[in-house]
Amino acid sequence: MLRVVVRPGKERKLKNFYPNLYRDEIQEAPPGAGVAEAVAQDGSFLAVGYYDPRSKAPFRAFRFDPGPLDRRFFLARFQKALAKREGLGTFLRLVHGEADGLPGLVVDRFGEVLVLQVRVRGMEALREVWFPALLEATLPKGVYERSDVENRRQEGLPERVGVVYGEVPEVLEVEEDGLLFSIPLALAQKTGFYLDQRENRRLFEAMVRPGERVLDVFSYVGGFALRAARKGAYALAVDKDLQALSVLDRAALRAGLRVDIRAGEALEVLRGLQGSFHHVLLDPPTLVKRPEELPAMKRHLVDLTREALRLLAPGGYLWLSACSYYLKVEDLLEVARRAAGDLGLRLRVHAVTYQPKDHPWSLHVPESLYLKTLILQEDAL
Ligand SMILES: C[S@@+](CC[C@H](N)C(=O)[O-])C[C@H]1O[C@@H](n2cnc3c(N)ncnc32)[C@H](O)[C@@H]1O
Repeated sequence: MLRVVVRPGKERKLKNFYPNLYRDEIQEAPPGAGVAEAVAQDGSFLAVGYYDPRSKAPFRAFRFDPGPLDRRFFLARFQKALAKREGLGTFLRLVHGEADGLPGLVVDRFGEVLVLQVRVRGMEALREVWFPALLEATLPKGVYERSDVENRRQEGLPERVGVVYGEVPEVLEVEEDGLLFSIPLALAQKTGFYLDQRENRRLFEAMVRPGERVLDVFSYVGGFALRAARKGAYALAVDKDLQALSVLDRAALRAGLRVDIRAGEALEVLRGLQGSFHHVLLDPPTLVKRPEELPAMKRHLVDLTREALRLLAPGGYLWLSACSYYLKVEDLLEVARRAAGDLGLRLRVHAVTYQPKDHPWSLHVPESLYLKTLILQEDAL
């Protein structure tokens, strides 16, 4: 096994279960890539992981006790991930990377089909060890890979998209609380469906009332809008992805529901809308992928939020989501305050929510928290 000597002071990171070591945190590096043991300067054991100098974080810890990274190890990790999610259903995130002790691996489960992403070099290099363990733990009918994410490009890994095991239908059937979505896998965003908004969608459905008006901006396949329609509310969905909107259309037809659809750029569509809505949902894509992008993106979010607030009915709710680690709850609060200030609107923070339990948030890995939602209510005196 290779050996990585950690720079003094940095061994605390590994001792406290943070898995990534960056270049300047490594004192002595091995000559090539491979499974490696990280040790402190005095030679004491810290972790076992994968070392690859071409990775953004050259050392990534897989385990914090001595032992091999073999099939048995990965099987136990997958079984632990399954156990954590017991009772959460069969449409969920099964593996959430570092938060599940599996660096750079994401696995979503859609019934009998798994969709996975490998985001880092170490996990890619160990594919032949962990993949059979994943199959053994989950017994899927088929596995589809969507390794075409930005992180992977940053790691210098080629894209990998397609069926990697068994039978995978071209159209993924996703069920959420009785709503059915037929999603063509090859054209879909992310791993096919935004499982991470499930709890917010449930909370939203519980709050919306018959006869209300709902504006679902960045709707994707209309998970929020369809629930509004199901509650007897009027729903208008806005997205620029025509493919997603046609999935929405079919899902509505199947459920006997009506949702109005507007295809286009969110900000432009918002600017052109009149009238008022009891709920406005703003769920933009990952706007901030690097810390230096934060200020510009906050300005853009203020513009979006101002337009959304302009359309809010008295006593209405704005649902403002951000799915980026770099955009914190404090940033979202500031965005909302600036937008409300521009309009002279007074708002109350009804709730702040985070990603659901199948997307675990590890205390030790701050980056594992990415999704935050502010639910704000118009609160004029
Ligand atoms: C995080 S997803 C929304 C998920 C959705 N709320 C749900 O519950 O499934 C972001 C969506 O924004 C859309 N989008 C991205 N940029 C856009 C833009 N400039 N205008 C309109 N839609 C956009 C994407 O097509 C994607 O469907």
